[in-house]
Amino acid sequence: MDGRRFLVTGGAGYVGSHLVRTLAQRGAEVVVVDDLRQGHRAAVPDGVELVRAEVGDRRRMAEVFAAWKFEAVFHFAALSLVGDSMRDPLRYCTDNLSNSLIVADAAVKAGCLKFILSSTAALFGFPKRIPIDEEAEVAPVSAYGESKLMVERGLAWADQVHGLRNASLRYFNAAGADPSGTIGEDHDPETHVVPLAICAALGTRPPLTVFGTDYPTPDGTCIRDYVHVLDLADAHIRVLERLTQASCRYNIGNGTGYSVREVIDAVERIGGRPVPHILGPRRPGDPAVLVASSAKLREETGWTPRYGALDDIVRTAWNWHANHPKGFDDRS
Ligand SMILES: NC(=O)c1ccc[n+]([C@@H]2O[C@H](COP(=O)([O-])OP(=O)(O)OC[C@H]3O[C@@H](n4cnc5c(N)ncnc54)[C@H](O)[C@@H]3O)[C@@H](O)[C@H]2O)c1
Repeated sequence: MDGRRFLVTGGAGYVGSHLVRTLAQRGAEVVVVDDLRQGHRAAVPDGVELVRAEVGDRRRMAEVFAAWKFEAVFHFAALSLVGDSMRDPLRYCTDNLSNSLIVADAAVKAGCLKFILSSTAALFGFPKRIPIDEEAEVAPVSAYGESKLMVERGLAWADQVHGLRNASLRYFNAAGADPSGTIGEDHDPETHVVPLAICAALGTRPPLTVFGTDYPTPDGTCIRDYVHVLDLADAHIRVLERLTQASCRYNIGNGTGYSVREVIDAVERIGGRPVPHILGPRRPGDPAVLVASSAKLREETGWTPRYGALDDIVRTAWNWHANHPKGFDDRS
């Protein structure tokens, strides 16, 4: 990817930093815009420009597009906590929609006509069939999911009117870490089960709460589709290479579901320590099973997960957390 330049918003965050690292390793020039509200300077590799700015700041975004000419934008920066979105739905809808469209508008005005959006499985709410493919009905059950759907719709208009070719990548559960152990997941608050289970085992967080043990699944706990962050990064680049003619959308997951119980077992197996946990009641809004069909992505781009096995995902995440008990340790 030598000589190609990309903008990554939210590139100091969890998923974005893994894409930034992959792009840089493949020879691309990358500029990150991130206000570090959740991200970490240390997650951005040396040699990658970090512009510390709020993506909703029109003037700053125009300056960024004036300073560099980009082939495409990867837009990760967003509010992304489902529970939080149900306490403050209007903020989620307003911020995620307007910030995304401000970035898209700056891109269009600068003649950068490729835009890749971090979308989400939360679009599908309680799906009628599993695995969930791109034709499944979109019916979010959270303001977070709704906000991403609104962004997808806004981008469709930008395509129709301005020719902004866009890809909506609906991730299922991002998990794992770069095997180098230098970057990984470090959220505050943390809501994802893999880091919570690992950190409970390491004693760096309280016991894990398992939300619901009476679901209609083999062991009674929820089943989710975990996709490794590096497989996500690879999917972004493969989709970019196809984004010349038409906009597109892809569901991205392993296609294999694992229960919360299976995640706990994997962490105990790999870490060699018990995962302290509490069995709690169900949480409202949690479907029993969410598993992606990524058949379209596989067929059209040749993507196949390198870290499809749960143990591989957990091993890389364990490696990160065990070696960074305080995460990036750069909170001010
Ligand atoms: N992690 C997952 O499992 C998952 C699943 C589905 C979708 N997604 C989507 O993927 C994207 C990345 O998720 P993540 O887990 O890496 O989140 P993250 O919070 O780790 O990363 C987001 C980054 O964006 C930055 N940011 C947020 N709002 C900003 C703003 N207004 N201006 C500038 N910077 C801003 C944060 O500082 C952070 O570095 C999000 O859009 C999220 O909705 C994530």
